[in-house]
Amino acid sequence: MSAEVDYFPERFREQVSLVVGGAQGIGKAIGVRLAREGAHLVIGDIDRRMMALARREIAAWDGSVRTVYCDVRRRRQVEAMVARVLRWYGRIDILMYVAGVVRGLPFAKTEEKDWDYMLDTNLKGAFLTARAVVPHMIKRRRGKLIFMASTNAWDAEAELAPYNVTKAGIYLLAKTLARELGPYGINSNAVGPGLIRTRISEPFLRNPKFMKKYENLIPIGRVGMPEDVAGPATFLASRDADYINGVLLFVDGGQLA
Ligand SMILES: NC(=O)c1ccc[n+]([C@@H]2O[C@H](COP(=O)([O-])OP(=O)(O)OC[C@H]3O[C@@H](n4cnc5c(N)ncnc54)[C@H](O)[C@@H]3O)[C@@H](O)[C@H]2O)c1
Repeated sequence: MSAEVDYFPERFREQVSLVVGGAQGIGKAIGVRLAREGAHLVIGDIDRRMMALARREIAAWDGSVRTVYCDVRRRRQVEAMVARVLRWYGRIDILMYVAGVVRGLPFAKTEEKDWDYMLDTNLKGAFLTARAVVPHMIKRRRGKLIFMASTNAWDAEAELAPYNVTKAGIYLLAKTLARELGPYGINSNAVGPGLIRTRISEPFLRNPKFMKKYENLIPIGRVGMPEDVAGPATFLASRDADYINGVLLFVDGGQLA
């Protein structure tokens, strides 16, 4: 290991962490952080190319990383992904559900296929993944579930009806699991990023009308980076957050303040 790697604490030493939607953007930053801190990282994603790049990057500093192709909209693929992780390691300590898609459209122009696309990926995928992982966490009476919501779970942005609904829904999923699974030693929480510079937000960042609106909206005065979310998300997966259950932790530079 390089000196640079030694600098990182080892909060997640030997912990098996599944990051769904971890090939790029926020999920990748979270995965990098987990692997830097000693976790066995498994990335599940639909983007083979970006997954391979992430794997190569993490393996280059001796991080423990494996990848599984998975379309979260397909129950069988989700179940196969979880089975594979369990075959490899025999357990899952941390589940990060980060996979998400967005399509900005006026409500009157939102088609059923747009609704299904966002609902299936952002929300049903979270249900399918959590449902596949949770029985194993219950058996071991431990586990951390972290779901990627958004400021949109609270702040209903125009022209994003299905997206907003998925983010409010995933928060309610996190809260329901907090109540239901707390007695089994499982914590369930959500993270709510504001505007973060990734592939998903790129079209919005390039739109002057959109940026005009955002200019004065973020007290910290800049758009966030994926690494800004990795710290708070991994905090929720750490021992320091053992008594945090059912929260939505906003990471938005004060946008909702
Ligand atoms: N970027 C932002 O401003 C922002 C703000 C709030 C919340 N979020 C949320 O953060 C999460 C990550 O988004 P990001 O900004 O890093 O975008 P991203 O596009 O960089 O990452 C999303 C990842 O999900 C994967 N994915 C998409 N559909 C999938 C499917 N069917 N099966 C498996 N994987 C799939 C993609 O391949 C990609 O790797 C999303 O849930 C998004 O809604 C993003």
